[in-house]
Amino acid sequence: MCSLSTLVLALVSTVVAAPNGLSKRAPTVYLAGDSTMAENGGGSGTQGWGHYLQYSLSIPVMNKAVAGRSARSYTVEGRFQAIADLLVAGDFVVIEFGHNDGGSLTPTDNGRTDCPGTGSETCTSTYDNETVTVLTYPAYIINAGKLLTAKGANVIVSSPTPNNPWETGTFSYAPNRFTTYSSASATAIGSAATFVDHGQYVANIFQTLGATVVDAYFPKDHTHTSPTGADTVAKAFAKGLKCGGSALSSYVKNSTSSIQGSCI
Ligand SMILES: *[C@@H]1O[C@H](CO)[C@@H](O)[C@H](O)[C@H]1NC(C)=O
Ligand SMILES: *[C@@H]1O[C@H](CO)[C@@H](O)[C@H](O)[C@H]1NC(C)=O
Repeated sequence: MCSLSTLVLALVSTVVAAPNGLSKRAPTVYLAGDSTMAENGGGSGTQGWGHYLQYSLSIPVMNKAVAGRSARSYTVEGRFQAIADLLVAGDFVVIEFGHNDGGSLTPTDNGRTDCPGTGSETCTSTYDNETVTVLTYPAYIINAGKLLTAKGANVIVSSPTPNNPWETGTFSYAPNRFTTYSSASATAIGSAATFVDHGQYVANIFQTLGATVVDAYFPKDHTHTSPTGADTVAKAFAKGLKCGGSALSSYVKNSTSSIQGSCI
């Protein structure tokens, strides 16, 4: 027999009133990134790794990655703000950029390239016939991280995925500057942010898998992965979470040892 009071107690214990009066729900993970993470990746035959992260987590994933974006254009288009407007305290945001952040602002600014440098220096540029101020990659990431953590989010700044490290036939991976920048940005955001060296986790697994397997993960170019490749890249991120200090690791369903690769 289930008395009314038992039923009421059961209901009360599943929907806990948060201090702000809103109902507490399971945290949500938001993903902010480029085509290597986005739904449908970089077009036909490819997929972004964000598509597969849901299979390793016990909480919902909202993939807000958009092909072609950089830390700069994601900011200017208001996409970090849109995530900040959606999230509630306790949610997670994974931020991973770098593939579209390089290049030069001259002679033509493509709207994605960041100002060179690691700090608060700025560049003045012309984009869409307007004079714009362009920030550095770390400045965009730190601004975003502070915006999101001020709303109670836990932020994970992640290094970019490698281009095919078997491209020349000989394995070769060296982290580019966006790895260093991402790590430093996580530190600068503060204690609610952690860094996952996703690029290195992926590279290590790709090295083990060998040229034949990994070449097939890149059906179109050296940047965008096949669905199978994207699944491997997502698992490498889960490994990085389990090995690192983010609170998101407690929502990874898989045990650390069951996931391919080693902690770095
Ligand atoms: C920028 O200005 C040039 C020259 O006036 C014009 O041809 C072009 O359409 C403008 N581009 C944009 C994006 O407004
Ligand atoms: C974790 O396990 C699920 C099956 O429960 C699987 O779909 C997923 O790919 C696994 N993730 C990792 C990182 O091994």
